[in-house]
Amino acid sequence: MSEIGLGAMQLSISGRPDHDQGVATIHAALDAGVTLIDTADAYCLDDSETGHNERLIGAALRSWGGDPSDVLVATKGGHVRPEGRWEVDGSPYHLRAACEASLTALGVEAIGLYQFHRPDPSVPYAESVGVLGDLLDAGKIRMAGISNANPEQIREAQEVLGGRLVSVQNQFSPAFRSSEPELRLCDELGIAFLPWGPLGGASRASEVGSRFSAFAEVASAHGVSPQQVALAWMLALSPVVIPIPGSSRPSTIEDSVAAADLQLTDDEVERLSAS
Ligand SMILES: NC(=O)c1ccc[n+]([C@@H]2O[C@H](COP(=O)([O-])OP(=O)(O)OC[C@H]3O[C@@H](n4cnc5c(N)ncnc54)[C@H](OP(=O)(O)O)[C@@H]3O)[C@@H](O)[C@H]2O)c1
Repeated sequence: MSEIGLGAMQLSISGRPDHDQGVATIHAALDAGVTLIDTADAYCLDDSETGHNERLIGAALRSWGGDPSDVLVATKGGHVRPEGRWEVDGSPYHLRAACEASLTALGVEAIGLYQFHRPDPSVPYAESVGVLGDLLDAGKIRMAGISNANPEQIREAQEVLGGRLVSVQNQFSPAFRSSEPELRLCDELGIAFLPWGPLGGASRASEVGSRFSAFAEVASAHGVSPQQVALAWMLALSPVVIPIPGSSRPSTIEDSVAAADLQLTDDEVERLSAS
């Protein structure tokens, strides 16, 4: 797995680029060595086009000149988009149907990594996560993950899945550090931790340096962008961390991928963590 993944959400939600730019962004990520692409059935404008992002990724993988067999596409189920709103449905009925629809949208026989998108307060967590176990057993998905989970839910999912939970995807960025207990727990359990919104989201990603001076200073010392420093800092926190920065054009994902080669000193990591 590449140390940096591509978060593909920006290619399908409001403000998205056109199809060709979306494909070019995914191709740029793949050309730069990215082997993890994060998506979800709910990355679309509304439920009239559920699976938009998955279909785009499927098309981009098929038209790419390289070998896509090493690329892990991680999708999710559990969110629905009536009239563009973000709502949850963690019922077993919905998750089974959502997985079938994702298989079709991606054009694959088995999904590499399937993540339960967000806990649904109206459905016992074990019931939602239990569906992932059934999908693993049926060979519909190769690996199972969860997202937006707290430490208790991570432990519960690990138990429900009989030790087969491989990843947790939570919000984590210089501006949002409250998922640190989950990051530490994943480190302890040897489960991948995928920080989502690692640069603070599309509307604030450009402000990493202006909002967090330590990130700007370290960036200037290395001659790189503050965004690259943010990603390198996360990578330095634990070997289980795989950030999935979003991108809607080739140049930003290319800059983000270079974070894997940026070596921060222990002092710099400490300073960034304390900032
Ligand atoms: N599990 C969940 O509930 C959940 C929720 C939200 C997101 N996610 C996942 O996490 C991914 C990332 O989150 P996000 O896209 O919301 O936020 P983000 O990664 O924090 O920010 C994305 C923005 O950062 C900019 N950017 C990326 N790399 C950059 C660089 N090196 N220098 C300067 N700007 C850079 C991009 O600009 P350009 O657009 O100009 O390229 C993009 O608009 C999503 O794509 C999605 O896969 C998951």
